[in-house]
Parts: sequence; C-alpha cells; structure tokens
Amino acid sequence: MQHFDTLIKNGLIITAADRYMADIAIRDGRIVAMGQALGEANEVIDADGLWVMPGGVDAHCHLDQPLNDGAVMADDFFTGTRSAACGGTTTVIPFAAQQKGQSLYAAVEDYHRRSEGKAMVDYAFHMIVTDPTEVVLKEELPALIEKGYSSFKIYLTYDDLKLNDREVLEVLAMARREGGMVMIHAENADCIAYITELLESQGQTKPYYHGVAHSAIAEREATHRAISLAELIDVPLLIVHVSGPDAIEQIRWAQNRGLRVYGETCPQYLVLTLDDLDQAGFEGAKYVCSPPPRDAAAQEAVWQALESGVFQVFSSDHAPFRYDDAKGKKLHGECADFQHIPNGIPGLETRLSILFSEGVIKQRIDATRFVALTATQPAKIYGLYPRKGTIAIGSDADLTLWDPNARTTIRNSELHHAVDYTPYEGLELTGKPVLTMCRGQVVSRNGQPAGEAGYGLFLKCDKPQPARPRGAAKGF
Ligand code: URP
Ligand code: ZN
Ligand code: ZN
Repeated sequence: MQHFDTLIKNGLIITAADRYMADIAIRDGRIVAMGQALGEANEVIDADGLWVMPGGVDAHCHLDQPLNDGAVMADDFFTGTRSAACGGTTTVIPFAAQQKGQSLYAAVEDYHRRSEGKAMVDYAFHMIVTDPTEVVLKEELPALIEKGYSSFKIYLTYDDLKLNDREVLEVLAMARREGGMVMIHAENADCIAYITELLESQGQTKPYYHGVAHSAIAEREATHRAISLAELIDVPLLIVHVSGPDAIEQIRWAQNRGLRVYGETCPQYLVLTLDDLDQAGFEGAKYVCSPPPRDAAAQEAVWQALESGVFQVFSSDHAPFRYDDAKGKKLHGECADFQHIPNGIPGLETRLSILFSEGVIKQRIDATRFVALTATQPAKIYGLYPRKGTIAIGSDADLTLWDPNARTTIRNSELHHAVDYTPYEGLELTGKPVLTMCRGQVVSRNGQPAGEAGYGLFLKCDKPQPARPRGAAKGF
C-alpha cells in the first residue's frame, strides 16, 4: 500500500476545466496521485462538503515597493503574504520597480533583499520598467527574462513612471525578441493632468474628484493606443486593472481582430463605485485608486467581460496605504487635494472571497471560470504553469479548501494585512476558504495564519507561451 505525507479525502475538486470527486495524495510538497482508495498518509484531511480548488495566484499586488514621494507601503512580504494565505492565495507576484536612472539589476537585487526570509507563500517578481535605456533594453531585460523574471509592467501615466510612445515601442520590440510578457497601465496622462488642473482651479479638490479626473475616456484612449502599438510590433500585451466598458470594448475589439491582447480586472471594479469616493471629510481617500471605480453599469460590463472571456486574469492590485498615517493616505494631510493622495487600495485577502461570493454563488460565473481567472490563467500567462495554478499530478500541492455555504462579513479587524482599513468593510459574503496549503504545508486554517515567515519560495517564471507573437518577424 502506498504511503503519503497527506491525503485530502472526500472533497469536490474544481479546476479550470472540470469538477469531480476524488482524493488527493501529496508527497514532498507535490500532488502525486488522485483517485479513490489511494493508500495511507501521515495526515488525512477530511474535505467532505468542501470544494478543493487550486491555491490562488495573485498576479498583481504591490508589497514593500519603494516610492518616490515619501509614502510607504503598509505591507511587506511578511504581512502581505500572511494576508494572502488567509484569503486562499498561495502565490503572489509583486513588482520590483526600477527608479529612473537605476539599473534594473539593482532594482531586482533590492527586491530580493526586501523579500528574503519573509514570505509565507510562494512568490515571483514582475518588474516595473520606468527607464528603458539602451543598456536596460539590450542587456539587462534580456538577461533577466532568461533568469526567470519574464514579465514587466510599463505605465502611460504617473509622472515618475510613464513612458512615451516611442519608449513603449522600444520596450514592446524587446519583449517580442526576448519572449517577455508586457503588462500596461493604460491611462492618458495628459488628459488626467488637464482635467486635474481645471478641477483644482475651481476648488474641486476632494477625493471624489480623483474619479472625475481619471476619466474613462482617458483610460479608453490609452488602452486603444497601447493595443495599436502592440499590433504594430506584433507582440502580445496585457492591459491591467481594467475598470469598465470603454476599455473593455477596445480589448474585445482587439481580440476579435485576432490580436493576443489580454485583460485583467480587480474586485474594486465589481463592488465599488465612484460614489464610494464621495464621503464626508477625507474618508473618500480610502477608495482612491487608478483607474477609479466607476458606476453600476460599468460593474455590469466588467461582469460580462469576466463571464465571456474578455478577461483572463482577476487580481487584487493590492497597493496598501494606511489611512490614518502621514506616510499613507494622509501623506499631505487630511485636507490634501485629490492629486496628492497615494493611489491604491488593499485587497489581497479579500480578492478570492469577493469573486467567489459575488460571482460563483450569485451565478454570474461558474466555479471553473473562477479557478481559471484566479489561478490557472495567471499561472499560464506569467510562466508558472503547470507547477502553479492547477490540481494535477506533478503540480505543487497548492490547494484551498472552500466551504461554499459559510456566511461572513468583511471586517478589517479580522484581516491580516497591515492596513488600518478595508474598502470592503461590512460586505456580506457567502463562501470562505477554510484551509490553505502551499506545497503541502498548511499556511492558513479558518482564516487564521498557520504558516511561517520564510516558508515561501522565490519562483522563477518561464517565458510564457501566451507571450509568443502571432506571426513571423516583422519586415522592419
Ligand atoms: O491605484 C493603483 N492602482 N495603485 C497601484 C499602482 C498601479 O498603478 O497599479
Ligand atoms: Zn497600474
Ligand atoms: Zn498595481
């Protein structure tokens, strides 16, 4: 009779493709058998009545990322990954961000120092490219892509991050040559700056006006431009944190043309609206993120795009700033103009539960699509599949056991990040992760951390298959 480290028995297994009853046998952190009557184990976990899904892959979150304006992210690799584990996520991909003038090698080394010995779940790095010099494009990025840093984000907005169109083209051409996956923050910087100046001159400076300045048209224009630049080079592109129908229409249009354009959205575009920014005093700052949440019609469009496959990836875009903190949302005081409020909201721990409850339980998406969006497709798009993102023999035993009937209410006091609020306070949910396992070790039980700092491994990402161009080399 075979002997295993762990057996998970009687659960309903759900992958991106199938749902079926089977036991899962784990040895040395990997899934080694699936079926019935597999053998004995040191530990047997009874998953009767539970759904067994791949551990979540949160492919867009910001942890301990150095910033230029004096703001400090609340979560480092310890608190961020603790929060991830408690929410059912077993792999995170935050960003090693290049400062202008900095070597990308230095940014990646610095990020390794920040993460060393801290993570409770596994992690890989994307890079953020802000200064695409010849050395970066010809030496550093090609070498880093080979070494397992195969994806990076570029920006069309934020003064300290944005690239011009020529620079975007150079970066895209490099990605095509080297097989990297490019993510883009698509908002038109000049449109935002123009509206911001007008609003400020009229004294319209409250957090709510962040949402007015970051117009959906500015997002739509930048999305279309990014797609056009990628089409010119013939390279795949992923548009991150898409907020509503204007940008979705551009992505769908590109996909219908046969272009390899991928889309990501986030919980804030499903359950928040611009009205959340319209609060007494400075409270609206808690919801300031870019692009901003829009309206109920936009939420509906995002749901449809999740359902119909326009989006491949559902991430948190966890960007953690404390509210009541001079290094957080109140960096410039509690009467600060909206343009000086650090952008970003927390969401690592609540990402999966929100989509599970609002999507699967309310029957807007089915459970297999939930798995695809939150684990399998991000793992494929960023070169971690099949080690991560699925339940299969040979894959890491990264599993989340869900009670689909449990009722919960989101309370910041019960979350494990280091942020002093959640934008989802009071949201009532059905379904919760009751046990999370990373490489066969329990890292969270009943929403409480059960693992150790330093357990999480750094993962090298392969060159992703979805980053391959469609055609032969361009004639220019
Ligand atoms: O407001 C946001 N999204 N902050 C995080 C940084 C980014 O652009 O993703
Ligand atoms: Zn962004
Ligand atoms: Zn982000």
